[in-house]
Amino acid sequence: MNLVRPKEPVIGRVVRSESCMAGRSASFVRHVEIDVSGTPLEGNFRVGQAFGVVPPGRDASGKLHAVRLYSIASPSWGEDGAGKVLSTTVKRVIDERKTDDPQVHDLFLGVCSNWLCDVPLEAEVAITGPSGKRFLLPSDTAAHDYVFVATGTGIAPFRGMIKELLEAPGGPCNSQIHLVLGVPYGTDLMYDDLFTSLDQAHDNFHYHTAISRPERGPRRYVDRAVVESSQIGELLQGDRTLLYMCGLKGMEEGIYRHMFDLGVVDQYLEWPDSIERDPANVGERKVRAGARCLLEVY
Ligand code: A2P
Repeated sequence: MNLVRPKEPVIGRVVRSESCMAGRSASFVRHVEIDVSGTPLEGNFRVGQAFGVVPPGRDASGKLHAVRLYSIASPSWGEDGAGKVLSTTVKRVIDERKTDDPQVHDLFLGVCSNWLCDVPLEAEVAITGPSGKRFLLPSDTAAHDYVFVATGTGIAPFRGMIKELLEAPGGPCNSQIHLVLGVPYGTDLMYDDLFTSLDQAHDNFHYHTAISRPERGPRRYVDRAVVESSQIGELLQGDRTLLYMCGLKGMEEGIYRHMFDLGVVDQYLEWPDSIERDPANVGERKVRAGARCLLEVY
């Protein structure tokens, strides 16, 4: 961890940058690959970790920009198989900045993500890291089954983890693997071709989507998709399943309440004695994810 500190970033080069959306959409997400060969990150990152990007220029107070963290979207052996190229999933920031003054409202594009999406091939990026030590795959991947739940760009680490499980050089992992991805519109699905083809190629991999603003039919969030899948329910009842969640914090509660129906709350959550084990209390800050529940939520 932290082989390269924010004060002394090293130089990587963007070697691939392409849209990873399923269709034309109001939002823009790019899959960006960065060659880190010759830096301390080469061969020294794991899927589930993040790396840092230091955008060029200075902030409003004249200081160098602070480092921004991006989830690694490649398997631990990188995009190239040798740990020289890592990738991430970058969403363009497009927002309207409003102030108390009704006359002042302007376009907000942020500092780093749009810049990173714009970087041309072969251009340099100042990088740091890697960071993160908990949101990882287990060392014995065959000893577990997996439920991965993502909203939006929370998909990034799961792209890498699922590739690591199913495209391992020694042959695919035979464990049960479910992925649930939630996005506003069908056209927003990221890496949809990859997950669809993996689902077709591997009987043990199951790809579920939850579209929250469909043209027709009911709105669906990822927690609902988890509740409605009897296969995921059975898996969560197994004693070797790991549940990973990445994305919006709001997805946790529905899934935690579902754990009561399945009778598995104690397998995934840690309850302090002071809090009654009751579905109404799952939102309590003191209720913590246990060892089999891995979270990267914001
Ligand atoms: P919506 O925004 O329609 O309410 P993105 O990051 O690309 O916006 O995608 C996030 C996805 O997660 C959207 O489909 C969003 O739905 C959905 N979402 C928003 N709040 C929650 C929540 N509390 N639980 C699960 N999903 C949520």
